[in-house]
Amino acid sequence: MTTRILTGITTTGTPHLGNYAGAIRPAIVASRAADADSFYFLADYHALIKCDDPARIQRSRLEIAATWLALGLDVNKATFYRQSDIPEIPELCWLLTCVAGKGLLNRAHAYKASVDKNVEAGEDPDAGITMGLFSYPVLMAADILMFNAHKVPVGRDQIQHVEMARDIGQRFNHLFGAGRELFTLPEAVIEEEVATLPGLDGRKMSKSYDNTIPLFGSAKQLKDAIARIVTDSRLPGEPKDADGSHLFTLYQAFATPAQQAEFRAELEGGLAWGEAKNRLYQLLESELGEARERYNALIARPADLEDILLAGAAKARKIATPFLGELREAVGLRSFREQVQTAAGEKKKAAKSARFVSFRDEDGSFRFRLLDAAGEQLLLSKAFADGKSAGMVNKRLQSGEPLDVRAEGQGFGVWLDDECVATSPAFADAVALDAAIARLREALATQE
Ligand code: TRP
Repeated sequence: MTTRILTGITTTGTPHLGNYAGAIRPAIVASRAADADSFYFLADYHALIKCDDPARIQRSRLEIAATWLALGLDVNKATFYRQSDIPEIPELCWLLTCVAGKGLLNRAHAYKASVDKNVEAGEDPDAGITMGLFSYPVLMAADILMFNAHKVPVGRDQIQHVEMARDIGQRFNHLFGAGRELFTLPEAVIEEEVATLPGLDGRKMSKSYDNTIPLFGSAKQLKDAIARIVTDSRLPGEPKDADGSHLFTLYQAFATPAQQAEFRAELEGGLAWGEAKNRLYQLLESELGEARERYNALIARPADLEDILLAGAAKARKIATPFLGELREAVGLRSFREQVQTAAGEKKKAAKSARFVSFRDEDGSFRFRLLDAAGEQLLLSKAFADGKSAGMVNKRLQSGEPLDVRAEGQGFGVWLDDECVATSPAFADAVALDAAIARLREALATQE
């Protein structure tokens, strides 16, 4: 069995080295496994929650798409798309919103943190908090449940969101699954092995600390960033503490064990920091140089990127469209066409109960009508002098003997022994007339 792995990347920034080592590289490696069915997407609807700068959103989408492709994501094996190209996702998000408990969402860390901050600042608890932020986990649940992902690789800060997706999916299954699992319940995967890179200052590399090394900046930008890595003040020739140096930690994340051992020995042997930085630069350049070329080529051809992403979206929608159809059915958003068919079905059944109604006319004569299932009159008999003769004719019409139906003007008559014994009302046109004759034959054929 294949494992469906799904993860989203919020498109608000430019990928840096920390994103590469911590998320992109392991995700691309995982996507190559024979039993992996990977869904990686640009979470650009999520980006709108955090960012109201259209230019930045657009730039980031382009850069992130180019980054993943340049680093070797195989879009023929994985499914790579933009969230905003899948209209089924916001639609599913609404279906899930209708079952997600408000209390559940009240407990989301990101929302709670914003509320706490407001309260601390003496503001209204919900000051500046959008419904987008509040509903963020529901949209994320839609991303995940839409494709029935088994595994969702995320950072620790996202574990709660994946658990909420489970909760919401479970609730939906319970309410609408009629005993079957509409949604696969996902599991968060935290890669313990994966490197959390230190930034230039030694804290975790993060855009919010402004301590990042650009992934695909120019060679000069890379060199400049490395030059800013903070080291201790040991002079050239003095032994360095490799394990106490985040420069060494950065080096380790990209080096083979042999390279690591060699670098460590050199540092302990007194390698100058300037020279050490140069080693790191060479290492990163060899790791990323070719990918940077590919990246620049991709960025230069945004129309090609557009095509690749639209093809990814088409691939994803092959799953999303029919599945959403099932889900709409499940909640009761169904086509009326089916309703019409059932109504027709009922009519057919009821046709068996098309019925004769006998009555006495004002002048005392005896007559009967034949009504179809819908209660519409198909026939009105002539006037009989007594109930018995009316009954006999009525019986013969139901006996199954061949019917002698003759069209007359806008309607038709039914004949027995060269006598017209009953007539239809007038119909609007020939089509309606034919249909009525068909109904008459059907009604009489199914009379017992
Ligand atoms: N919220 C995730 C983050 O900020 C991004 C994301 C959106 C995501 N939808 C997802 C991750 C679905 C995994 C699955 O990192």
